[in-house]
Amino acid sequence: MKNKKMVSALVLSSFLGFSNTTSASDKIVGGVRVTDRTETPYMVSLSGSCGGSIISNQWVLTAAHCAGYFSDVKGGILNLKEQGVTFRIKRVIKHPKYNRTTMSNDFALVELAEKIDFNKTKLAPVKLASETFESEGHQGAGTDATVYGFGNIGENRDNYKEDLNKVVVPIVSNEEANRPGSYDGAIDETMIAAGYAGGGKDSCQGDSGGPLVVFDHENSPVQIGVVSWGEGCAAPNKYGIYSKVSAGFDWIKKTISTR
Ligand code: ARG
Repeated sequence: MKNKKMVSALVLSSFLGFSNTTSASDKIVGGVRVTDRTETPYMVSLSGSCGGSIISNQWVLTAAHCAGYFSDVKGGILNLKEQGVTFRIKRVIKHPKYNRTTMSNDFALVELAEKIDFNKTKLAPVKLASETFESEGHQGAGTDATVYGFGNIGENRDNYKEDLNKVVVPIVSNEEANRPGSYDGAIDETMIAAGYAGGGKDSCQGDSGGPLVVFDHENSPVQIGVVSWGEGCAAPNKYGIYSKVSAGFDWIKKTISTR
């Protein structure tokens, strides 16, 4: 999903003549293609416009700002042109405290119209980071996290392949991301930042709603973030901002268990 800031960044980069190169506005920036489908059995595309993650046999987690921009859920693919397994949607529930101005609590839950058969489809849910997981230090500053996305953007279709990409980005403290040269106080406790001060690696437009994960002691992925926003992509001091799963954990669990 694009927002206005992103569109103007794109217009500017085409003006400067970068549009035919892999510019910072392409997709996951500075990453590599995912080639093994068993690495991300939980990854889905929401109508090619946002990412999402399977968290149970009937629910997908995405970003609230993606709501209204998709009509189905496709899993089991490493490229958007693959057929995969498609699910119809029953409803989309945005976090009650989502704020589209501050981007606070940028979470939405997508209820599927039918249950996923994990055996038949080879899809699987991802574990979510709880507050305990966070307090145990598994997502502290400096921890390497991996973000996945199809990064499908309309403006760059010509050179865009629609592959699932991934990139490793270190977690950055909210204190660091809130510094004046960075986001100057805009990062709240429902967000987590990741990236390099020098830039170069980041998620980008079209990756929204997708998962940021760390690997636990068993090397299983644990989702700690949902791609939410950023100023441009991979720019110095402008880290990628993710909805912090541990902050939404209670709402997510409550919502998927009572409906
Ligand atoms: N808002 C974008 C989207 O809808 C995601 C932007 C992420 N940006 C970043 N610099 N990490 O796809």
